[in-house]
Amino acid sequence: MTQLQINEVAPRDGFQSEASFIPTADKIRLIDALSVTGLARIETTSFVSPKAIPHLRDAAEVVTGIQRRTDVGITVLVPNVKGAERALAGGIDEVNLVMSASDSHGLANLRMTPTQSLEQFAAIIEAVRDHPQGRAVFINASLSTSFGCPFEGEVPQARVFELIEHQLALGVQGVTLCDTTGMANPAQVARLCEAAQSRFPDTPFTLHFHNTRGMGLANALAAWQTGITRFDASLGGLGGCPFAPGATGNVCTEDLVHMFEQMGVATGVDLDALLAASAILPDLVGHETPGQVVKAGKADRQYPIPSR
Ligand code: COA
Ligand code: ZN
Repeated sequence: MTQLQINEVAPRDGFQSEASFIPTADKIRLIDALSVTGLARIETTSFVSPKAIPHLRDAAEVVTGIQRRTDVGITVLVPNVKGAERALAGGIDEVNLVMSASDSHGLANLRMTPTQSLEQFAAIIEAVRDHPQGRAVFINASLSTSFGCPFEGEVPQARVFELIEHQLALGVQGVTLCDTTGMANPAQVARLCEAAQSRFPDTPFTLHFHNTRGMGLANALAAWQTGITRFDASLGGLGGCPFAPGATGNVCTEDLVHMFEQMGVATGVDLDALLAASAILPDLVGHETPGQVVKAGKADRQYPIPSR
């Protein structure tokens, strides 16, 4: 059975949506702690406009401040050429290009329609490949609102596939299907994942779920049952797009790892180390997190029998 590959997104999707700025040194400490837990990748920050996302204005300091390890990939979100150039200057393993599958969310989030984003993608990929350190960089694309748009409702599968086709033609190597505001349900996830893998058999797909309506883990399981092994998840279940109404946290990393490990599916992640990292989050962000296993303990936790 193929081991899962988990991409931790709390430092990006999580911290972008917090009420207050997380100090750079705290971000670096958390990423360094996460780097030794067995996660495949960490989405460390995003190189976007500091006016759009002020909480990640320290992207360059974070990327150059963390301890690098050969066994964990450092990926960063970039929306345009300027972001790609800043990211490459910091030295990264992967760029995660972002665009929306729907016009309204694309305009709200990035001030670009999907067509305009694809033009940026072409320019970004050229800039990455022309950069002396860019040849080895993996190019992933995240497609927001793949399972529905908070402004437009249903996004047709044909539209999602048309956009993926364009991305791959431009040189994108992996695609993340994002359920930006937790609209997806497990039946829909199974349908889209099956169809995507049969239409694009050579493309590694990652699934990015938000738990906005409590369907995050069910959706991850539905995706896994179709053969998906790559997931985005966020420590403590932090996260949310500031430009999507009603957005809330991602599927929680330690809850996802716990579920799969309980099922006998290897995640490669040290759950105890992850839980220890999650336990410090409330101090870091100033509030309780939505994560459940960190509060309840693992399912095989044994309580002392009450004495009479
Ligand atoms: N990094 C740093 N600064 C950037 C930047 C980047 N990647 N891209 C643009 N800027 C700066 C420009 O230099 C300009 O600065 P100035 O006003 O001081 O001259 C300003 O931002 C506006 O630039 P412009 O190219 O006109 O961008 P825009 O206003 O059309 O915004 C994006 C487009 C994509 C840059 C912006 O919407 C954005 O960063 N969105 C990201 C949203 C996000 O991360 N959402 C959550 C994740 S899905
Ligand atoms: Zn997200």
